[in-house]
Amino acid sequence: MSEVADGRILVTGALGQIGTDLVERLREIHGSEMVVASDIREIPDHPCVLNGPFLILDVLSDKILKLVPEENIQTIYHLAAILSANGEVNPELCESINVDGTRNILEAARIHGSRVFIPSSIAVFGPDAPKHAPQITALNPTTKYGMTKVDCEIMGMMYWINHGVDVRGIRYPGIISWKSQVSGGTTDYAVDIFHAALSEGKSYDCFLKADTKLPMMYMEDAIKATISLMDEPLESMSLARCGYNVSGLSFCAEELFSEIKKHIPDFICEYKPDVRQNYADSWPDSIDDSVARKDWNWQPSFELEELVEDMIKNLS
Ligand code: NAD
Ligand code: SER
Repeated sequence: MSEVADGRILVTGALGQIGTDLVERLREIHGSEMVVASDIREIPDHPCVLNGPFLILDVLSDKILKLVPEENIQTIYHLAAILSANGEVNPELCESINVDGTRNILEAARIHGSRVFIPSSIAVFGPDAPKHAPQITALNPTTKYGMTKVDCEIMGMMYWINHGVDVRGIRYPGIISWKSQVSGGTTDYAVDIFHAALSEGKSYDCFLKADTKLPMMYMEDAIKATISLMDEPLESMSLARCGYNVSGLSFCAEELFSEIKKHIPDFICEYKPDVRQNYADSWPDSIDDSVARKDWNWQPSFELEELVEDMIKNLS
C-alpha cells in the first residue's frame, strides 16, 4: 500500500514552504526521477527545479487529467493552496484554488487510481473549539481559509467513501523551517522572527501579541509525519484519515523570542498586532493528537530549545 511500488510521485505547489523540503526528502528516498515537482510558477534556481523533473501546473487546469497517466503518477502530494492571511484578502481566490483545485486533483486521482495526500490545518477549528483541540469536535472556522480546509477534509472523505480513492491528510500546525521564506500565513511570524534576529538590525515587529499561543511544528517533524502517514497500510487509517491532528510544540511569541535571545542577547522584539491577530485568536492553543499516535504511531521529535538551535545554525 505504501509509497511508489510501480509509479511516480507528483507534488503540487512544490515551490512553497512545505514542498521545498518535502520534494527533497522524497527524492532522497525514491530517487530524483521518481518525484515530479510542479507549481503554477517557476523559480529557475530553486532546488525542486534544478534537482529533478519539474512541470508548470496550475491545479485549476484540466492538464492534471492528462499529466497523471502520461507521467505514471501513483501518488499525489497536493500542496498548492492559498494560506490564511492571503485567503482573507482574496477569499474568492482562496475558495477557488483550495476547493476547486482540490476537487480537480481528486477527480484525476479517481479516474486514474492514484493516492492523494491533502494537507489540512489547525485553521479548521473555530473559536468554539476547546483550546486544547481534540480530534473530534465541532469545526466552525471563522476564516475563509479554515472553511476551505474543512471543505477539503469532507471532500477527501467523500472520495474515499464513494470512490475508494485513498485520500489522507494531516491538520498541520504552523510550520517552522529555514530552507524557504514564508508569506501569506498567520504563523509566519515564527519563521520571520529568525530572519530578523539574524539580520543587521536585530529587531522584529511581531504581528501577533506576546502571549498568543499556537500549535507549531518544526519542518523535520512535519515531513516525518507526512511520509509516515503515507507509508502506513490502508487498514491503519481511521475516520480521521483526511485530517489527523498532529502535535509538535505549543508556544507564544514571547516564549520563542526568549529562546532566540539566549543565542542573540541584543535581539529586540516589539509586539504590534495586526488583523492576523484575529485569525490566531480563533485557533486552538494546542492539539490533542492521540488518534494519530494510536493509528500510526505518530511521535514528534523536536522541542523548542532544539528547534531554535537548529534554525539559528542553519540560517547563520
Ligand atoms: P506556500 O504558500 O508556501 O506554497 C503554496 C504553493 O502553491 C506556492 O508555491 C504557490 O506558487 C503554489 N500555488 C498557488 N496557486 C497555485 C495553483 N493554482 N496551482 C499550482 N500551484 C499553486 O504553502 P505551504 O506553507 O507550503 O503549504 C502547503 C500546504 O500545507 C497548503 O495546503 C497549506 O494550507 C498547508 N498548511 C501549511 C501550513 C504552514 O504553516 N506552512 C500549516 C497548515 C497547513
Ligand atoms: N500556517 C498556516 C497559516 O498561518 C495555517 O494553516 O496560514
